[in-house]
Amino acid sequence: MHADTMPSPALPLLDVRNLCVSFPSGGRLIPIVENVSFTLAEQEILGLVGESGSGKSVTAMALMGLIDSPGVVITGSALFRGQELVGLPQKQLRRLRGRQIAMIFQDPMTAFTPVYTIGWQIDEQIRAHEKLSRKQARARTVQLLGEMGVPDPARTADRYPHQLSGGLRQRAMIAMALSCNPALLIADEPTTALDVTVQAQILDLIRNLRTSHGSSVLLITHDMGVVAETCDATLVLYSGRVAETGPTADVFARPGHPYTTALLASIPPLYGARPDRLPAIAGAPPAPLHRPAGCAFGPRCQFVHTPCLAAPPPALFAVGPSQAAACVLPAEGTPLPPRLTEGAVVTAPVSSQPPAQFSSPEAQS
Ligand SMILES: Nc1ncnc2c1ncn2[C@@H]1O[C@H](COP(=O)(O)OP(=O)(O)O)[C@@H](O)[C@H]1O
Ligand code: SF4
Ligand SMILES: [Mg+2]
Repeated sequence: MHADTMPSPALPLLDVRNLCVSFPSGGRLIPIVENVSFTLAEQEILGLVGESGSGKSVTAMALMGLIDSPGVVITGSALFRGQELVGLPQKQLRRLRGRQIAMIFQDPMTAFTPVYTIGWQIDEQIRAHEKLSRKQARARTVQLLGEMGVPDPARTADRYPHQLSGGLRQRAMIAMALSCNPALLIADEPTTALDVTVQAQILDLIRNLRTSHGSSVLLITHDMGVVAETCDATLVLYSGRVAETGPTADVFARPGHPYTTALLASIPPLYGARPDRLPAIAGAPPAPLHRPAGCAFGPRCQFVHTPCLAAPPPALFAVGPSQAAACVLPAEGTPLPPRLTEGAVVTAPVSSQPPAQFSSPEAQS
C-alpha cells in the first residue's frame, strides 16, 4: 500500500455531505438527488436501498465522477480520505478510479468487451496501474480469479465473457474491480440478475472483501433481503432524499420511517413457505418533476397528516443513538410505525389528523 493511501483512523473513508445532483429539463433544473449525506468507515459495508428510480445509481455515478450529461449540476461534498471528489478534475478522478475506488454493475457484460478473453482484460487493467510484465500480471489475474471462487482460474482466464455463466462473469468482474486493491468498491445491484443461490454466493464474496482485501463497500440494491444479509449500515433513499439511516440491525428491528417499514414487509420470509404474493407498496414514487410540496412519501403513506403536507420533513429526526428518519412522527413523539404484516398496504386517504392507531401506544402491540 502506498504511503498516501494509508488509512487514517480519524477520518471515515468516505464522508458525503449534502450531495445534490440536478439535471436540466424543460428550461429548469430538476433535483434528482437532494442533500444526501452519509459516512462510510474503513472496511464497512453500507447498503443504499430504495425502489427503482430513487436516485441510487445517480448518487454512485456522481461520486465516481461519471455523470457527463450536459447541464448537470452537482453540489455538496464527498470527501474520500479527506480528498474532495465533487468538482475534482476528470484527470484526477480517472486516477482514483480503478486505483482507489472501483465500481461493479448489475450486468458484467458492460465491464468486459466481448472480443478479448477475461484474463487479457484483467491483465490490462492491472498493467494500466502497475509496471508488471504480462506474465506477472497474468499470475495476479489467476490469483484474483481463484480468490473470487472461480474454478480452474488459469483456464477460465482464457475464456471469452460470453463463454462464462452469469455468476462466473460477476466473479470475474469483481476480480477485475479488485485488481488494484481499491479501498472502496461501489457495487450497483451486483446480484439483481442472478438466481438466488448464485446471489447468496456473490453476497458472501462481497461480505468477505473487507477481511480478504480490506475494502469498504457501498452496496446498492432495491432488495432489503440483500441489505439484511450483507450490510453493517443502511441508508434508505426515497425520491432522491434520505428517508432513513442507521445500523442495519436497528433499522430492521425498529424502522423509523413508514417507507422503511413497507420495504421490510416486502422481504420474503427466511424460513417456511414463500407466500404466493408479497405485500407490495401501493402506488409508485413520484416522478422527479411531480414531487408533492410536502413529504415525497405522503401520497403513499398510511400516516400522512397535516404537518406532512406543506414542506418535506425539515430534518432527519433521531430514532435511536445512530439512527434517524426523515419523518415527522419521531419528532412528534408519535409511536413509530409497526412492521407491516403480510397483505398490508401503505395507502390511505389524506387526513388532517394522525391516524387513530397513532394516538394510543397500546394500539401498536
Ligand atoms: N442523465 C440523466 N438525465 C436526467 N435524468 C436522469 C439521468 N440519469 C438518471 N435520471 C433520472 O434520475 C432518477 C433516478 O435514477 P437512478 O439513479 O438511475 O435510479 P435508481 O435508484 O433506480 O438507480 C430517475 O428518475 C431517472 O430517470
Ligand atoms: S408520516 Fe408524514 S412525514 Fe412521515 S413518511 Fe408519512 S407522510 Fe412522510
Ligand atoms: Mg440503478
